[in-house]
Amino acid sequence: MDAARPRVLSGMQPTADSFHLGNLLGALRHWVALQDDHDAFYCVVDLHAITVPHDPATLRRRTRVAAAQYLAAGIDPDRSTLFVQSHVPQHTELGWILQCLTGMGEAGRMTQYKDKAQKGGGDAASVGLFAYPILQAADILIYHADRVPVGEDQRQHLELTRDLAQRFNARFGETFTVPEPHIVRTTGKILDLQEPTAKMSKSSPSGVIDLLEDPASIAKKIRRAVTDTDATVRADAENKPGVTNLLTIHSALSGRSVAELEEAYAGKGYGDFKADVADVVVGALAPLQERYRRWIEDPEALDTILAAGAERARSVAAATMVDVRDRVGFLAAKG
Ligand code: TYM
Repeated sequence: MDAARPRVLSGMQPTADSFHLGNLLGALRHWVALQDDHDAFYCVVDLHAITVPHDPATLRRRTRVAAAQYLAAGIDPDRSTLFVQSHVPQHTELGWILQCLTGMGEAGRMTQYKDKAQKGGGDAASVGLFAYPILQAADILIYHADRVPVGEDQRQHLELTRDLAQRFNARFGETFTVPEPHIVRTTGKILDLQEPTAKMSKSSPSGVIDLLEDPASIAKKIRRAVTDTDATVRADAENKPGVTNLLTIHSALSGRSVAELEEAYAGKGYGDFKADVADVVVGALAPLQERYRRWIEDPEALDTILAAGAERARSVAAATMVDVRDRVGFLAAKG
């Protein structure tokens, strides 16, 4: 943890019993790689998880489940600061200040809010869901992160974060680093296996592959993945989104280029190709699942790592807030 290295921050919501392949290929894998030459902060964003109705016991369990998957995927707590968002109360404090700098129209234009609010039945959407991206901006800015590794669906939230950093700096003086999104083009949007125009998400159980899913179920879903009638294994995002998505997944996990795979499967049918994609996915997830099981069976060890991470995160966040409070004009408390 060297302060001279560029800093990264990212987080995922603990809203499922497993992350999925989109979370891994779009974000988590890049988090692991970035640890080598960045000062990395990775959090489980439990404050974001309560923007939709939730069950308290389930949230508590899934927070550990999320942290265990970060570790299983290769996040190294000796090199990265791994913590739970709600353990650092300064996020909500900065979130409030940034809310006061955000226009209603600006927040209302966030497409993820519009989608979620619509699914939740319009009026049922909470004010917290509306303010969600502003809290995300606080998560990032409070650590002066230079880069934010996320999937394509977070691009708009990152734009808002940059706008808020610039606005704060212009109004109150240079305070925040304006962060860059770190979105890897090839894997930034992994598609749903059944509906390969939509992004893979947990809301579509037959189109999603969970990281903790059992091998037989993974193989079955890949065998049933929607393709096309052209019967050639070739990347063509527009006309062959299903096959292209499977090629992306294979390539990301096997390390073989898409061109090499196209050549290897020339003249072969989708059946052979899908069987191999399934083997590659199952093979890649097996060690992760094994490591996950060891972590989740040791909540003591998990909680110790999260406590150490929270302590480091709090020390950085608290220092930022001393500066922010002063710049905003809050009278310092005496003593
Ligand atoms: P969340 O929890 O919805 O998703 C976690 C990460 O997974 C990426 N992702 C995908 N990437 C590729 N293909 C997909 N099909 C796919 N589905 C999801 C997401 O882009 C994300 O990177 N708002 C964030 C959580 C957050 C955050 C932050 C992120 C809160 N504070 C600060 C970065 C920095 C979210 O909803 O992620």
